[in-house]
Amino acid sequence: MALRITVIGTGYLGATHAAAMAELGFEVLGLDVVPEKIEMLSAGKVPMYEPGLEEMLRKHVAGIEGSTGRLRFTTSWEEIGAFGDVHFVCVNTPQKHGEYACDMSYVDSAFESLAPRLTRPALVVGKSTVPVGSAARLAARLAELAPAGTDVELAWNPEFLREGFAVNDTLHPDRIVVGVESERAEKLLREVYAGPVGEGSPFVVTDFPTAELVKTSANSFLATKISFINAMAEVCEAADGDVVKLAEALGHDERIGKKFLRAGVGFGGGCLPKDIRAFMARAGELGADQALTFLREVDSINMRRRGHMVELAREAVGGGSFLGTRVAVLGATFKPDSDDVRDSPALNVAGQIHLQGGQVTVFDPKGMDNARRLFPTLGYADTALDAVRGADVVLHLTEWREFRELDVVALGEVAARRTVLDGRNALDPLVWREAGWTYRAMGRPTA
Ligand code: UDX
Repeated sequence: MALRITVIGTGYLGATHAAAMAELGFEVLGLDVVPEKIEMLSAGKVPMYEPGLEEMLRKHVAGIEGSTGRLRFTTSWEEIGAFGDVHFVCVNTPQKHGEYACDMSYVDSAFESLAPRLTRPALVVGKSTVPVGSAARLAARLAELAPAGTDVELAWNPEFLREGFAVNDTLHPDRIVVGVESERAEKLLREVYAGPVGEGSPFVVTDFPTAELVKTSANSFLATKISFINAMAEVCEAADGDVVKLAEALGHDERIGKKFLRAGVGFGGGCLPKDIRAFMARAGELGADQALTFLREVDSINMRRRGHMVELAREAVGGGSFLGTRVAVLGATFKPDSDDVRDSPALNVAGQIHLQGGQVTVFDPKGMDNARRLFPTLGYADTALDAVRGADVVLHLTEWREFRELDVVALGEVAARRTVLDGRNALDPLVWREAGWTYRAMGRPTA
């Protein structure tokens, strides 16, 4: 009989994983402790913007016309325990308030709720990003609490999906990493991922700590690569170089590669910033803090980008105070093709200028509701054109495709002054200059 799969936590990771498991042919039951989320998902609606996810969900949610009916949602732990052969734990692990460490309370409470309901053989698979050592601790907790005893096992299977590409990354992962303690667990996971493995996704089997570390070290590497090029951008500013050309030239070296070398306002989002901080905190607990002190520098290079952008904007409006100036901000999300504004450099810059007395008007194609909720005191416009109306300077802070396709002549007619600052090095300077704009980007003072 085909495996029956449950997915615990239906946020970004969980909702995508649940729909993808149904797409791969399994019977799937998803659980969340927030009833509103379950209602939405059961009606075939996704609580966030993620290209292709709603279509995949609707294809499988039971009760939707024409669906396979393989995907259902519940708030009942009893149902989850009775249903699943394999339980994926996909709850989030945010940064602790006022600390670098990660907040494990959602993971812990998921295990405390699930374990006592495991009355038959099952594999529990952790997907959340956790401090190394968590899997061993949680395995012990399962052994204590699960009525089925040794018939219940744990595996760790980190998730590498990117927002904006979540569906593709889940169905066609560039690697599948499983931390296991038995052949039985490995065999079950090979069965779950038979589809992608058959298509060529590498399947890497490790112990628990290594599996946990793959995720945090991958994100640390990516963060380091971005901060590296942003550090070069700082040097380019001082030396009149051009960081975009520099990155292009570096990227031709296959050992370096051209991805994640885009200089600009830096990284944000719900993963990279908190993951590198939690990693430092955990290394400290393990007595290995020296190994990761470089991540502190990676973090501070990144945070400096936001301040640099504010200073470039200040220069653009005359070099003094922002009082009485109008600033248009294009972009609110931490990256394009997402509505996620968590730790978004764009909103952070908008907020800093607003707090210094500038009149900031923000436009984002998908992030408006979330931005308003997080930063209600900023001004918001319904279109890019309205945001730019009357502006003394335009800041391009999230590289949405539609910002590259803007009618810059029309924008120039409504702006008070034609100055654009490109915080993502993504606009075409020639197009803007031809329309009479002064174009300035980060890390290329003369370009
Ligand atoms: C990241 C990891 O890529 C993913 O594997 C992991 O599972 C979760 O964290 P995500 O947060 O969706 O994914 O975004 P990502 O595409 O990695 O971008 C992170 C941030 O870095 C964004 O703010 C982006 O704008 C910025 N970035 C990325 C740059 O500033 N320059 C670059 O060259 C690339």
